[in-house]
Amino acid sequence: MTNNKKLIKIVKNGPFLVSGNIPLVKLAIKTDKKGYPCEWVEKEKYPLQEEYALCRCGHSKNKPYCDGTHEKIRFEGTETAGQELYVNNAKEMEGPDLLLTDNYGLCNHAGFCDRAGGIGYLVRHSDDHKSKKTAIKIAGNCNSGRFVVWDKETGNPIEPDFEPSIAITEEPEKGVSGPLWVRGGISIESADETVYEVRNRATLCRCGESSNKPFCDGTHIMTDFDDRQ
Ligand code: FES
Repeated sequence: MTNNKKLIKIVKNGPFLVSGNIPLVKLAIKTDKKGYPCEWVEKEKYPLQEEYALCRCGHSKNKPYCDGTHEKIRFEGTETAGQELYVNNAKEMEGPDLLLTDNYGLCNHAGFCDRAGGIGYLVRHSDDHKSKKTAIKIAGNCNSGRFVVWDKETGNPIEPDFEPSIAITEEPEKGVSGPLWVRGGISIESADETVYEVRNRATLCRCGESSNKPFCDGTHIMTDFDDRQ
């Protein structure tokens, strides 16, 4: 029997086991004229597979896939992230048209939020059409899901419409490879079988160095993670 449930299962001190025919692509950050991240550009599409294992230790010679190196290096992949709901750890900032929630603990320092005066400034000026549009775009590009903008009129979050998929990310402006971007509400199950809150945007550490495993905390920038090595 085929199980089509889309799932990312974390193996204790091992890889991410992906099941359910989840598309895998490579996306790179594009910067604007001032050097601020402004868009994601697709660089590659990987063959569709019912199941596959993605490297979590950062040392596979066959990245983005696992080749078993985690066993040789005795990868310590203990999950340290909490199971709290996003909103419970988020601060709120209110603008005229939009509300912003900010869960700093999820930040991976991709840097989209610094553009055009910063997302806080844009939300505070969200009665201006252009500022509102840019704030919505920035939040949607925030791959960690740290930022969410909410429509004050409806009370609903404004989210990009993502097909469930995983992106291998690259951050060429920083000269590093980035995390896995999990999009479209795919379940992520911990090694102890607890399921993390399902979100439209989340980033998983694939360099092996995050202090907030399984999620990325931006350490890959400090360690110059390069997935070609
Ligand atoms: S990919 Fe490991 S900390 Fe970001």
